[in-house]
Amino acid sequence: MTIGVRLLRCPMDAADDGVFCELAGRVFEESSQDYLHWRLDNMPDVTVFIASVDGVPAGFKAGYAATGSRYYSWLGGVDPAWRRLGVGAALMVAQHQWLMESRYDLVETHVDQENTAMIALNMAHGFEITGMFLKRGKPNYIMQRNVVR
Ligand SMILES: CC(C)(COP(=O)(O)OP(=O)(O)OC[C@H]1O[C@@H](n2cnc3c(N)ncnc32)[C@H](O)[C@@H]1OP(=O)(O)O)[C@@H](O)C(=O)NCCC(=O)NCCS
Repeated sequence: MTIGVRLLRCPMDAADDGVFCELAGRVFEESSQDYLHWRLDNMPDVTVFIASVDGVPAGFKAGYAATGSRYYSWLGGVDPAWRRLGVGAALMVAQHQWLMESRYDLVETHVDQENTAMIALNMAHGFEITGMFLKRGKPNYIMQRNVVR
């Protein structure tokens, strides 16, 4: 089994956009193309990492700049058929390698407190819980990690 990760930048071509939207639909059934495209089109310095297993798209991780020094890791996930195989970890490593070569000093993400898988993955990759807030009435953690160069 070989995991490969590639980086897409915006604007994406139609083929890459199709891969991203199809994958996002497999991971988050409720995600609408309008929701995805608004951020891809309007947020600064968007990155979308796509992980493939033996050439088949299996997971993604998308982010954008929150400020000139803070990067927001917005949305990501792995197709349920490919979980616990290291795909999520490979995406995290690829994003953090990109961040090391970027202008950003801090990466931040928000996670539902019931999402134990994502919280564990984040903690395994150096994130700490730095705050909490309510997202549509559900408690979420703010998790942050310094970009170490
Ligand atoms: C969170 C998620 C991305 C993990 O992806 P994955 O490819 O299964 O993760 P990996 O196989 O790379 O796991 C790496 C580490 O993360 C942690 N982890 C992953 N899934 C876990 C789970 N279900 N329970 C506890 N820890 C978990 C473990 O520390 C794991 O290391 P290990 O396998 O050596 O124990 C995946 O479960 C997912 O897509 N969830 C739904 C989408 C989502 O919630 N996204 C976040 C909101 S944007």
